[in-house]
Amino acid sequence: MSLIDKLNWRYATKKFDHTKKLSPAQLDELLKAVHLSPSSAGLQSYKVIVVEDHATREKLREAANGQSQITDASQLIILASETNLDEAYVKNYIDHVAKTRQIGRENLEGFEQMINSNVSKLTEEQKLNWSNKQAYIALGVLLTSAAELGIDACPMEGFNAAKFDEILGLKEKGLSTTVIATIGFRSEDDGYSKLAKVRKPEEEMFIHI
Ligand SMILES: Cc1cc2nc3c(=O)[nH]c(=O)nc-3n(C[C@H](O)[C@H](O)[C@H](O)COP(=O)(O)O)c2cc1C
Repeated sequence: MSLIDKLNWRYATKKFDHTKKLSPAQLDELLKAVHLSPSSAGLQSYKVIVVEDHATREKLREAANGQSQITDASQLIILASETNLDEAYVKNYIDHVAKTRQIGRENLEGFEQMINSNVSKLTEEQKLNWSNKQAYIALGVLLTSAAELGIDACPMEGFNAAKFDEILGLKEKGLSTTVIATIGFRSEDDGYSKLAKVRKPEEEMFIHI
C-alpha cells in the first residue's frame, strides 16, 4: 500500500475487536515512533501514558461519555502535558542535550537562555497551551505511524480532562491530560470503516502562492 492508501485505510475507529491485542513488538514500534515526534525547542513537555489496566479503563470510559473504544481497544494512550515548565525543567533538558551530544554545557548556555526567556514570558495558561500543541503533534505522529503499521486508532477529545487527571493521579505527577487515542484492531462490523472519507475539496484546502 502507498502512503495515501494507508491514510485512506485508517479511520477513527469506533468499534474495536476486544479480542485482538497489539503484540509487544507492535506496541514498542508505535511508541518508538511517538517518542521521535518533534517538539518546539525539543522540550517534549508532555508524557505518554499507556493504560492497559481494565478497572482503570472502566472508570475512564465513564469520564469519556461511555465511549466503548476506551475499554475495547488494545491500549489507551494518554498524552498529558507537563504543568511544571520552569527553569529547572529547561536545565534538565539542556543537561540531557549536552550529555547526548557530548557538547560542553557552556556551549549550550545561549540556547538555554533563549528558551528560558521565551518560556518566562508566558503565563501558566499559555505554557500549558504551548505544551498541549506539542502533545497534538505527537498525536498526529501516532495516528500516521499506526496507519503505516496497520494498527487501528481513534483520536479522542470527547472526555472530561479533570476527571481523567483525578482517576490517573496526574496532578500529583505534574501532568494534565491533553488528548487521548485508543489503539488496537477494528471490529469486522464497525460500519464506519466502510464509509467514504469526508475531506474538503483540495482546491478549498490548499493555497499555492
Ligand atoms: C483531536 C481529535 C479528537 C477526536 N475526538 C473523537 C472522540 O472523542 N470520539 C470519536 O469517536 N472520534 C473522535 N475523533 C475522530 C474524528 O471525528 C475523525 O477523525 C474525523 O471525523 C475524520 O474522520 P477519519 O479520522 O475517520 O478520517 C477525534 C479526532 C481528532 C483529530
